[in-house]
Amino acid sequence: MEAKRCRRVVLVSCPFQGHINPLLQLGTILYSKGFSITIVHTQLNSPKASKHPEFDFQAIPEGLSKQDIATGNLVDIILALNERCKIPFQDCLLDMMLKQDSDDEITCVIYDDLMYFSEEVANNLNIPSIILRTSSAASLLSRLAILQLKEEGYIPFPDAMSQDPVPALRTLRFKDLPICEFGAPENFFQLLAHVCDTKTSSAVIWNTMDCLEEPLLIEQQRRQCSIPIFAIGPMHKFAPACSGSLLNEDSSCIDWLDKQVPNSVIYISLGSLASTDEKELAEMAWGLANSNQPFLWVIRPGSIMGSDWIELLPQGFMESVGERGCIVKWAPQREVLAHPSVGGFWTHCGWNSALETISEGVPMICKPYFADQMVTARFVSYVWRIGLQLENQLDRSEIERAVRMVMVDKEGEEIRQRAEELKEKVETCFKKGGSSNNSLNKLVEFMLS
Ligand code: UDX
Repeated sequence: MEAKRCRRVVLVSCPFQGHINPLLQLGTILYSKGFSITIVHTQLNSPKASKHPEFDFQAIPEGLSKQDIATGNLVDIILALNERCKIPFQDCLLDMMLKQDSDDEITCVIYDDLMYFSEEVANNLNIPSIILRTSSAASLLSRLAILQLKEEGYIPFPDAMSQDPVPALRTLRFKDLPICEFGAPENFFQLLAHVCDTKTSSAVIWNTMDCLEEPLLIEQQRRQCSIPIFAIGPMHKFAPACSGSLLNEDSSCIDWLDKQVPNSVIYISLGSLASTDEKELAEMAWGLANSNQPFLWVIRPGSIMGSDWIELLPQGFMESVGERGCIVKWAPQREVLAHPSVGGFWTHCGWNSALETISEGVPMICKPYFADQMVTARFVSYVWRIGLQLENQLDRSEIERAVRMVMVDKEGEEIRQRAEELKEKVETCFKKGGSSNNSLNKLVEFMLS
């Protein structure tokens, strides 16, 4: 019989795929350490509870529709979530506290940093809170830099400065900063200030690791706070069976991968939010076709503007690639990246995708779209040098060259080699005695203290 669990942790999730995944992974990790887990989530994009029978799920109404997400700008949506969820979350916590046994008390609230309303609610109820940062330390530092540059009157910066290095960040250029160009700038800065502020929280959990970002984590701690930080990434490696996919994963692509030659397939996915248009789609398609490499391409329904799925693929493309290409709506990505046939990943550089790729030693082609994706693309191509970035407007011959370079050409050998070496370093981090493993143990001690 299972030993009785004695402490409950409430995890507050943010309703986007790239945020749900790490939160469920953290829940799985803490459950394995003996905690009871409640996941508080919005009704919109609620996680699939049936896949996690070990957790309790509590939905709070936020009054947003899928249409709002599809058509609204992300900044305004996140601000609205923080306004609308506060009272329902407070009611939800109060109700849980009323019903809880003395041996099932809420130890703390852990919240996604975009759901910062949770901190105020927890604080009002005298419950400690911990921030979960689902992106990189580099992206937080770049957000802090934006706030500082704004203070000093540098934003908006002129186009002529876009290639210049940001003084406080060195490796990043102005064009890499995650500045949001949609909606009212004041809303963006307001959101940034909230997300960067640790408020009354007792600690910060990071889905990153020392071998990737130790100097940046130290810098973040020095600049921002005296509260403990726990870098326990890559969390998916501590919770390998945990899937948070909102869309159905099409496993038929694994059968297709099984038939391909080792390291021959380029995998392409733009994540859960980025979208492209017909012109870019045509360049991507012909670039892939002309590279002569087999490819597995995730085209999310609705991700090509003006069509439901793949109706806008150029005429003659499917016939020209035949069995050499496989297109799916959503893939079991971690399984794909770990598959021996996969030799490269063309990615939008969402932080989860980057961590999943680095953990498997797969070199990358980076085509970032917005937010932290630009920061990650720069780190992949310029700092860790395990991939290259497509910086210009998409062009089929540039794509063809990039695919061949990352996958087969001699020129890309060092990139492939470094990706393999970084994978080994990451393994050392999460194995017993490694920095992430030690951090996780310290986090559990901290939560029990
Ligand atoms: C969003 C932002 O775009 C990103 O910048 C931020 O870092 C996190 O939130 P998203 O576009 O969802 O991220 O990308 P990413 O962080 O890579 O997360 C996508 C997740 O979906 C990954 O865990 C990936 O494994 C999964 N996925 C993606 C699948 O399971 N199947 C797919 O076909 C594609």
